[in-house]
Amino acid sequence: PAYENIKIDVVGAKKNVGLIQLHRPKALNALCKPLFVELGKAVNDFDADNNIAAIIITGNEKAFAAGADIKEMQNNTYSHNTKEGFLREWEDISNCGKPIIAAVNGFALGGGCELAMLCDIIYAGEKAKFGQPEINIGTIPGAGGTQRLPRYVGKSKAMEIVLTGNFIDAHEAEKMGLVSRVFPVDKLLEETIKLAERIGTHSPLIVKLAKQSVNQAYETSLRAGLQFEKSVFYGTFATVSVSI
Ligand code: HXC
Repeated sequence: PAYENIKIDVVGAKKNVGLIQLHRPKALNALCKPLFVELGKAVNDFDADNNIAAIIITGNEKAFAAGADIKEMQNNTYSHNTKEGFLREWEDISNCGKPIIAAVNGFALGGGCELAMLCDIIYAGEKAKFGQPEINIGTIPGAGGTQRLPRYVGKSKAMEIVLTGNFIDAHEAEKMGLVSRVFPVDKLLEETIKLAERIGTHSPLIVKLAKQSVNQAYETSLRAGLQFEKSVFYGTFATVSVSI
């Protein structure tokens, strides 16, 4: 399909990595609705494609995404948001069974930071900047910022980020556990592809179960999560096992 707000490609030596580049450079990849509809479709299609092992979402050197599209959003009313379900397409991304890795260069602000946090792993380039600046424009994070950020970085740091609107840089983000690794700007994408390829060497079934199990850690009590893990673990013995 021809996309207008994203570009897609299949990369990696084995052509098993789905690459999605957000592509509204003039608006710093602000996440307008048409972009999100396309992103949701691209993620669904890669998720359904048996040749794809993992998915990467990236932007450009200046911006991963500078947030929801303020121009599109500014005249929304409470009743419009409630009736239309503002940014409902975000669920296509959280429902994806395959690993999604965010490769963040430049700004990941507001909805951009929230999109990165929806992914399973965040890699960043040295110049990346993260933040939840919604408070500057009289609103609050609306796509997980108040819920996922504390789970990544703890309450005190999350409060500081959400209540000040200040940006944090890539190294700080790594130190606080938001980002798993930082690379030079021009190495970020190739390192992210390597990570996706490494994941792609494993059984797709087991990768999916492992992702589901880690995600349970954010949904349940410890006891219920451990039970979930145990039954999935036992279940893996019913799959065709690989040789040692
Ligand atoms: C629409 C945006 C945008 C946004 C940037 N642009 N961010 N358009 N929505 N979120 C546009 C600008 O209007 C401008 O277009 C062009 O991109 C370049 O931006 P500049 O501001 O000129 O660039 P710069 O001076 O380098 O500053 C970069 C910046 C700044 C610090 C990232 O653009 C900025 O503060 N952006 C807004 C960040 C923000 O508040 N994000 C949270 C949004 S609320 P023109 O046409 O004027 O040249 C949110 C809520 C999420 O995300 C809720 C649920 C999803």
